[in-house]
Amino acid sequence: PQTPAPGPARTAPQVVAHRGASDDAPEHTLAAYKKAIEDGADALECDVRLTADGHLVCVHDRRVNRTSNGRGAVSALELADLAALDFGSWKVRADAEEPAESPDWTDHPDRADTSVLTLERLLELVADAGRPVELAIETKHPTRWAGQVEERLLLLLKRFGLDAPPAEGPSPVRIMSFSARSLHRVHAAAPTLPTVYLMQFVSPRYRDGRLPAGVGIAGPGIRIVRNHPAYIEKLQRAGNQVHVWTVNEPEDVELCASLGIDAIITNRPRAVLTQLGRG
Ligand code: G3P
Ligand code: CA
Repeated sequence: PQTPAPGPARTAPQVVAHRGASDDAPEHTLAAYKKAIEDGADALECDVRLTADGHLVCVHDRRVNRTSNGRGAVSALELADLAALDFGSWKVRADAEEPAESPDWTDHPDRADTSVLTLERLLELVADAGRPVELAIETKHPTRWAGQVEERLLLLLKRFGLDAPPAEGPSPVRIMSFSARSLHRVHAAAPTLPTVYLMQFVSPRYRDGRLPAGVGIAGPGIRIVRNHPAYIEKLQRAGNQVHVWTVNEPEDVELCASLGIDAIITNRPRAVLTQLGRG
């Protein structure tokens, strides 16, 4: 199969806000994404899951227990159940325990935007951003619904005219996954949409730098970059872009920039932009 062009080569790494500006505001909330846009992030990363009644929501964990005042699996709850929960207070508590690590966001004017975020609402936010902001959408737990996550995701993207890149310029959306099968489904239904194969370790299967069929972007974790820089070069020589997560420390930002990484996915977009001389 043909591999969609990941976009023009960049001279400086793109800065991608991981779960929004998630160091400053509760991850995956409107507050976190508004802050990331305000901070100047080039792109927003989000994880998507399907609710029991078929809505795509931006939640990282299988359960809502860590990031809300509720309990249970996203896949067992309906959107109305999730809408009744508070996805912000946990962050205030976490910041109080780790004040040196996480800036306090409690006075932020967008503090109220901490209910569950649907992907649809996030797409609206991006459409209204007033400047180009790309989206890196990760399919979570894609085996649970046997193709429905990808199907609904592509239907929604189509409604926003985002299921294929424009004739010129980079695609405003890319789909990421640790699951090659999920990316294969995306590629089969939307062959021109760029896809990112996420890696937690160097898989023997892709040791030579080639990725699953149709995928043109590698998404290694920062540990791979630190411990196996030669593998990063191999991925690049094979013609792939490289997007690295989750890069929060200045020395890792420097390492990524020195290796010609295409995108830095970070919880601290403002700090990374400043370090790269773009702040
Ligand atoms: O951007 C990729 C990264 O988000 C993958 O790890 O666990 O944060 O979804 P995770
Ligand atoms: Ca993710």
